[in-house]
Amino acid sequence: MNLNKAPVVTIDGASGTGKGVVGQLIAKQLDWHLLDSGVLYRVLALKAIKHNVPLDDEPVLEMMAGHLDVQFITPEHSTDTKIILENQTVTDEIRTEAIGNAASKVGALPLVRLALLERQRNFRQLPGLVTDGRDMGTVVFPDADVKIFLTASPEERANRRYKQLKGKGIDVNLDSLIGELRERDKRDRERPIAPLKPAEDAVCIDTDHLTIEQVVDRIMSEIRKWQAK
Ligand code: DC
Repeated sequence: MNLNKAPVVTIDGASGTGKGVVGQLIAKQLDWHLLDSGVLYRVLALKAIKHNVPLDDEPVLEMMAGHLDVQFITPEHSTDTKIILENQTVTDEIRTEAIGNAASKVGALPLVRLALLERQRNFRQLPGLVTDGRDMGTVVFPDADVKIFLTASPEERANRRYKQLKGKGIDVNLDSLIGELRERDKRDRERPIAPLKPAEDAVCIDTDHLTIEQVVDRIMSEIRKWQAK
């Protein structure tokens, strides 16, 4: 246990592995802070698109990332976080596949990642932080107390994503979803900086045949093991 800093649980994995919802539930059970790091990349991508900034214009995107006016508002006893970008609610707007893909493009730029690093680390506050993303356990919080890496087959992930987006009333086609997921995975895994990969000390969980509740239980048992140390 790191006595000088608030404890951190990191949950990394590709899109559709369930890390977002699992992170929310774990944070709620522990009553800790939550950082969904993908939101920062999604909000930056949305802002870039709105301002007609090309998604590979690294100097401009670095500056935008350093001055990102984004707020996370979670009412007490709720897991529904409202995302506000420059005084506008963008909670649903950032959840489309197009924005996910654009987020993966801006996330491949080293200076953008650097500009967002401190902002992510500032979420580490008592009583603790649960955070999900791609590089939370490897780069942002390498000294995290519990590191989890979630995996699932591409078919299962595309299906989950399909249901999730349909449930939100977002029109989506399964085949194009699979194609976009593959493209995004490839970019996230192969980028030279902070690629999607498990930390050496991460516990890997294959979620293919597990319910959300079972994944949460597995992670909670890892957290209890750490707490008992
Ligand atoms: O987790 P998500 O689907 O909301 O993330 C959207 C994209 O943002 C993802 O494809 C890559 C990028 N991202 C990242 O590069 N690093 C993170 N820690 C989180 C997200």
